[in-house]
Amino acid sequence: MPLVSTRQLLDEAAKGGYGVGAFNVNDMEQIQAIMEAAKETNSPVIIQASRGARAFAQDNYLYHLMLAAAELYPQIPLAMHLDHGNSFETCESAIKLGFTSVMMDGSLKADGKTPSTFEENVEVTKKVVDYAHERGISVEGEIGVLGGIEDGHGAGGSGLARVTDPDQAVEFAERTGVDSLAIAIGTSHGAYKFTKKPDGSVLKMDLLIKIHQRLPKTHLVMHGSSSVPKDLQDIINQYGGKLKETWGVPVEEIQLGIKNGVRKINVDTDNRLAITGAIRKVFAESPEKFDPRDYMKPARAAMQKVVALRMTQFGQAGHAGDYTAISIPDMAKGYANGSLSTKPLVAAK
Ligand code: G3H
Ligand code: 13P
Ligand code: ZN
Repeated sequence: MPLVSTRQLLDEAAKGGYGVGAFNVNDMEQIQAIMEAAKETNSPVIIQASRGARAFAQDNYLYHLMLAAAELYPQIPLAMHLDHGNSFETCESAIKLGFTSVMMDGSLKADGKTPSTFEENVEVTKKVVDYAHERGISVEGEIGVLGGIEDGHGAGGSGLARVTDPDQAVEFAERTGVDSLAIAIGTSHGAYKFTKKPDGSVLKMDLLIKIHQRLPKTHLVMHGSSSVPKDLQDIINQYGGKLKETWGVPVEEIQLGIKNGVRKINVDTDNRLAITGAIRKVFAESPEKFDPRDYMKPARAAMQKVVALRMTQFGQAGHAGDYTAISIPDMAKGYANGSLSTKPLVAAK
């Protein structure tokens, strides 16, 4: 199957009542781990690359690795998504390269740190939507600001500092026409999200439900959704790592989100932990080894295990064969003739 649009994957997920994991990659082994997990569980999948990943791997390597994945796994619907685009130019360059969806994260200014105003966010996101839809590419926007900083991206601080305002979410969706909407409900990027198992005082699932009631047709996106499992933390610390005790987003809360309009779930940190733990284990147990394959193979297998588990937990497992790809030019026609209109059906307050 050729690379497909994230919009198609999310529309299908909404029909089927499940969520789709969006897993971050920086290299070939991570792409391989995700594709093997997708094959193992028969799942459609979104692979995403951040600006940091594009800089690390170089665009052409990333793009051709993704083409290889699509070629090697023709049975798997696969979307290539830009994570946290910081400006129109970043999104434009991703689209020109061949990404099939982009995130315009206008919740922050182009420096990727300073929170923007609502009007600035609407303006830059709408500009990306107009450019992308004309080319059949779908767009994720963000309203509200997540906590934490990854690779220089993020406002820092607590995930509760700027949670999403439901009225703003409605106005933002209407004025921009985004295909999906990332909301801030208390989560942060990275490993240090919560100091204990989160309850409703720090993880605002009630807010998510409220937003879904107001925007029942909008695909919601949960960022910062790694669960940071204790067993993955323990492996790292057992083999010389120094992670402080921490909690992520419990899978059952994500599943509650999926029942309430969440269609895309972003996971990066759990895979980073799995890879690092596996590599540390080989280094600690077999210090004489120096062939990178000796530690990259178990690292890749550890990531595959996490991704396959999440695919099953999010409900996308078993759904790879449900549909055939809509070509990107046909997606462009759908946006042009209104059949893919994203005008939300707003529910009463
Ligand atoms: O948004 C956060 C993702 O985990 C990507 O992180 O910017 O360090 O590549 P990164
Ligand atoms: P985690 O750091 O929780 O994996 O979140 C990843 C993410 O939101 C990427 O956009
Ligand atoms: Zn994110």
